[in-house]
Amino acid sequence: MSKDLIEQSIERVVQRIDATLAQDGVGFPHYADLETGKWTRTPDGDWTGGFWVGMLWLAAWRTGDARYCSAASNWAERLAPRATSKSVFKGFLFWYGAGIGRELFGDRVARQLARDGARGLIEMFNGDAGLIPLGTDAEEAAEVGNDKANIDSLPGTIPLLLTHALELGADDIARQHLRKHLELCVRADSSVCQSAEFDPANGALLRRYTHKGIHDDSTWGRAQAWAMVALAQAMAFGDPACKENAVAVADWWVKNLPPDSVAYWDFNDPMIPEVPRDTAATSIAAAALLKLAVLVPERRVQYRAVAKASIDALAQHHLTPTHPEDPRPAGMLTDGCFNQRLGFATNNELIFGDYFFLEALLVLAGDLQPNRI
Ligand code: GLY
Repeated sequence: MSKDLIEQSIERVVQRIDATLAQDGVGFPHYADLETGKWTRTPDGDWTGGFWVGMLWLAAWRTGDARYCSAASNWAERLAPRATSKSVFKGFLFWYGAGIGRELFGDRVARQLARDGARGLIEMFNGDAGLIPLGTDAEEAAEVGNDKANIDSLPGTIPLLLTHALELGADDIARQHLRKHLELCVRADSSVCQSAEFDPANGALLRRYTHKGIHDDSTWGRAQAWAMVALAQAMAFGDPACKENAVAVADWWVKNLPPDSVAYWDFNDPMIPEVPRDTAATSIAAAALLKLAVLVPERRVQYRAVAKASIDALAQHHLTPTHPEDPRPAGMLTDGCFNQRLGFATNNELIFGDYFFLEALLVLAGDLQPNRI
């Protein structure tokens, strides 16, 4: 991937952030229509709102423009009521919405919100089972509660807890939460199942299932990708003992990624290649591989090359251009697949795909140390 393409892509994504800031609408951008660029928004941030704030933190980091920092801080404040919501996905909200603002800028508002989010997660911890459950308000269509777990409850949650290890004593909770999820969701071949039902009295696995994959035994793209990013974050923020799991899960991705470096929505859809891609899963995994390339020296060259190939493919084939003959807004990452099972936003721009695409681009540009966030 050429330096020029990296720089052009960053410029386009920042242009898109500016267009989103200028767009009418109330609430956090969730997913956007590819023709008009209009965002469907959520009033309280759902599980995705922190990624919009995260993009503003990253834009501030890249440009040094204080306008993005104050926008990030303002948007982050709107997440405050969610610190007590009964959903483990608040880990996404308070890490990407606040934690990274604290890490990159030491922002006062972000610091307080990150602490509140970490506290809210700790309050949900079940010490008998050794994990934070999905919770009764988790943002899935069904099958949530205090006896259910998702692999996507790790990213964000793990670094949020580990960065509050001293202040809130959250270190051991983070380690237990991670290890229990590896036990519940990672299969013997290191592929990842999205969800599990467990016994709340002791954490024993009762069954594996999926909310968003094609079937319970398949590998939904984002299940694998979320596990990768969470394991990288665990290693980076003080839990290096999970290295073997991190490498095994990442190696599975590398081995199963299609030759053109962009993942389909589910690795086991029998109709591949006539099925949706998921550029969000692809950008999440690429950002994770860039972190792991630094953390796992023996995989440095391979992981960086695979990540770069994916980001290159996304930039060349799935990013709307700045072109007078293309009516679409520039800088949208197309072909994100939110929920193929429900037919919900299956070919859209997704705010979390945008976030990880930008994070990976900034790392490739040499602007951001991947393991700072
Ligand atoms: N809940 C995370 C996801 O749908 O990817």
